[in-house]
Amino acid sequence: MTLPNKRPSNMLRITTEKLANQFIEEQVAFVKKQVKDKKVLLALSGGVDSSVVASLLIKAIGKQLICVHVNHGLMRKGESEEVVEVFKNQLDANLIYIDATNRFLILLKGVSDPEKKRKIIGAEFIKVFDEEARKLEGISFLAQGTIYPDIIESDSVKAHHNVGGLPKNMQFELVEPIRLLFKDEVRVVGKALGLPSSMVDRQPFPGPGLGVRCLGAITQERLHALREADAILREEFDKCGLSAKVWQYFIVIPDMKSVGVRDGKRYEGWPAIIRAVNTNDALTATIEEIPYNVLHKITSRITMEVEGINRVLLDLTPKPVGSIEWE
Ligand code: XMP
Repeated sequence: MTLPNKRPSNMLRITTEKLANQFIEEQVAFVKKQVKDKKVLLALSGGVDSSVVASLLIKAIGKQLICVHVNHGLMRKGESEEVVEVFKNQLDANLIYIDATNRFLILLKGVSDPEKKRKIIGAEFIKVFDEEARKLEGISFLAQGTIYPDIIESDSVKAHHNVGGLPKNMQFELVEPIRLLFKDEVRVVGKALGLPSSMVDRQPFPGPGLGVRCLGAITQERLHALREADAILREEFDKCGLSAKVWQYFIVIPDMKSVGVRDGKRYEGWPAIIRAVNTNDALTATIEEIPYNVLHKITSRITMEVEGINRVLLDLTPKPVGSIEWE
């Protein structure tokens, strides 16, 4: 019992709360019929798609849904905490939270090649999820936040972007309630389900997370500095309204230090590089013009508040020739 592979030509684009509620009602009924009294497992990353699926399924089958959130230690500041707060505390979901930070950091120690880093993160993610799934009994279904572009986009484009997919040997029937929706529709449905804007309007975040923004071999100290600097960037973008306007913005920290001065003493630190881009499809991207007063404020806060950073730089390179991520 699955939804069709092709979006019916008469399916209305979900742009209003009314249409979203209608969709939610239909899907709740469909999922109830599909799942009956069985259990469903979902890897809940906290991204828009998996969050909307979780919230839809909680509405349909409540505690029969078991969400697993794997914190790989490469999340942005506060993200895993928000997943727990929204789903466990507010929505009373059956949520298993796994802090696998150390496992990932140990495996990544000394690895500087970007594709190797991606592979390690993807493979370990599956391993952690698989181990958890094996501990659970009576799971019949696997829910996924597949959306329509995932189905229509060619595999070759998406391949390196998905954190590896799920274990091939997992023999579950799939539950994919948003597989016919476009991203903008997923957001409208998420809002109608009552999810906070911080989740529904979230910018795209690569599966390997901060792992590909802490350039080269990751260390705990540099990763910590990156997370703090990134949080400051997000805070300042929220304050000046840029977060509603810019498609994707983040900090990158290369594995190099430069000389600086702090408290009258030599202070060697890493540079924090700001990247803020606009795009429709992520295949090309343009640069957002950030007002100088905002840049000064961000620079001052990052260099004063974040241990280990002594310079702030701005990446002005469109795609092409620079890709959005540095790795
Ligand atoms: P690039 O760097 O290729 O990024 O210009 C285009 C978009 O894809 C995201 N991205 C990734 N997403 N896993 C993901 O899930 C990845 O390994 C990955 N690499 C890049 C990037 O953030 C941007 O939105």
